[in-house]
Amino acid sequence: MHRQLECDVKSGGRLMRASTSFLGASQNLVLLLFLLFSMTAAFAQGIGADKEIRTPPPPAMPRINGPGIYGAHPGHPFLYRIPATGAKPIKFSAKGLPKGLMLNSETGIISGSVKSAGKYVVQLHASNARGKAGRSFRIVIGDSLALTPPMGWSTWYMAYTNISQKMVLAQADAMISSGLADHGYSYVNIDDGWNRKPDSKDASIDPPTRDAQGNMLTSSNFPDLKAMTGELHGKGLKTGIYTSPGPRTCGGYQGTYQHEEQDARQFAAWGFDFLKYDLCSYAELMKDRHNNDEAKKPYQLMGSILAKLDRDFVFNLCEYGWGDVSQWAREVGGNFWRTTDDVGAGLDGSLWKSMDAYGFGEAGLEKYAGPGGWNDPDNILLGKIIWKDKLVPTPLTPNEQYTWMTLWSVLDAPLVFGGDMTQLDDFTLNVLTNDEVIAVNQDVLGKQGVPVSKSGKLEVWLKPLEDGSKAVGLFNRGDEDSDVTVKWSDLSLQGEHKVRDVWRQKDLGAFKEDFHSKVGAHGAELLRVW
Ligand code: GLA
Repeated sequence: MHRQLECDVKSGGRLMRASTSFLGASQNLVLLLFLLFSMTAAFAQGIGADKEIRTPPPPAMPRINGPGIYGAHPGHPFLYRIPATGAKPIKFSAKGLPKGLMLNSETGIISGSVKSAGKYVVQLHASNARGKAGRSFRIVIGDSLALTPPMGWSTWYMAYTNISQKMVLAQADAMISSGLADHGYSYVNIDDGWNRKPDSKDASIDPPTRDAQGNMLTSSNFPDLKAMTGELHGKGLKTGIYTSPGPRTCGGYQGTYQHEEQDARQFAAWGFDFLKYDLCSYAELMKDRHNNDEAKKPYQLMGSILAKLDRDFVFNLCEYGWGDVSQWAREVGGNFWRTTDDVGAGLDGSLWKSMDAYGFGEAGLEKYAGPGGWNDPDNILLGKIIWKDKLVPTPLTPNEQYTWMTLWSVLDAPLVFGGDMTQLDDFTLNVLTNDEVIAVNQDVLGKQGVPVSKSGKLEVWLKPLEDGSKAVGLFNRGDEDSDVTVKWSDLSLQGEHKVRDVWRQKDLGAFKEDFHSKVGAHGAELLRVW
């Protein structure tokens, strides 16, 4: 049976969906008034042609978001800020926290350190003037980090190497004030440009690049990294640093070559929680960049050093997907690894092409992803990003932006936002913070989605979820709006199944045999099927 409960209503240039089939006359009048109201509201907000805001605002009642599981190493500092939406102030409490952890009931920050390895099932609670919410949360103290794909932000696509401590702290403030942190974004990561450059004449970054003891020196724009990480930790956020195994980073700054252990210990002493290790000039030391043993060597070395430190470091490998990195990245301690070149190499109209090629190109790598280690097709370039030294709005259409977030969620890709967090418009926030979409990405099962059917430029992707339901991405990579059908047989399902529109957080009804929906050019829809 082929049925569609919804019809697409193009109105005021804004694509809206309304269940009309079973509506009576009076309900139609209400619907008409609603459409007129929405049109006016859309224009009042200056929402452009098809800038449909799909994500309903979070309720005023508290809701605990973020992953259902979190891993840390025994005896290391533990830090987790419970992501929660709802009217502030919210009061937090927890039952079953392992010995060594404390929860700040005002901020929702869990901190401390757990000596004994083990799996702890904790009941988290949040309450405010409007109600209360509870959620079970698993803390796994053991040898794995990043049990769900890391979520955060990076300086790179917002500022390239034009970065400073002040800027990073302002971005961290915005991660909290914009609400991103309440949806699970937690890593504030410094990319290239924080230290000194061997051949620079600019006083803020000129040599020496190391002190007399060989310690890496920072740019004068980063006067006190220890104070910076302390401030970020105080907010419950975590923070990342960047370097290269080569003598120079990709931007020409000092790399760690032949100072690996000293630098890693320095990063730990500064209080970092994450290291992006970018091959860059190390490639010049290699005979064959696609030789797995050669590519693996520097990562193996750094992985073994990080494993000895007294802090948890999420280890982010960046060697552009050369060789078979997905096959060996876990072995060297990698928590996520770039499988591609830089997605934003060109903002001159090519961003959609690279995003499309890299994202959909992840098919086949699913066997290497799972709790503790993820394929990474690069950062998410939405909102305001850098182009020729200026911050410009992402060149992507709204449909393309929905595709980005839908695909990265289905792929279990790390959700690292690349835009300016201090300048987030409503549309960008709505794309980045849909908790049901994020829940697909953060699902505890950690199964990377796979394509289950293709018809020309139309694709259906499936990602099984822990509760037995299936996340289904309907993608239209073509240039014309099209109808995309998912057959239950392609999901190994028979009979009648309930379908939820994940972006609009709306149940659509029960369907037999298949479901179809119109999907805009370069667009995506995300379903959850029970
Ligand atoms: C490479 C990486 C990017 C970024 C830059 C920094 O191009 O792939 O992600 O880290 O280096 O110079």
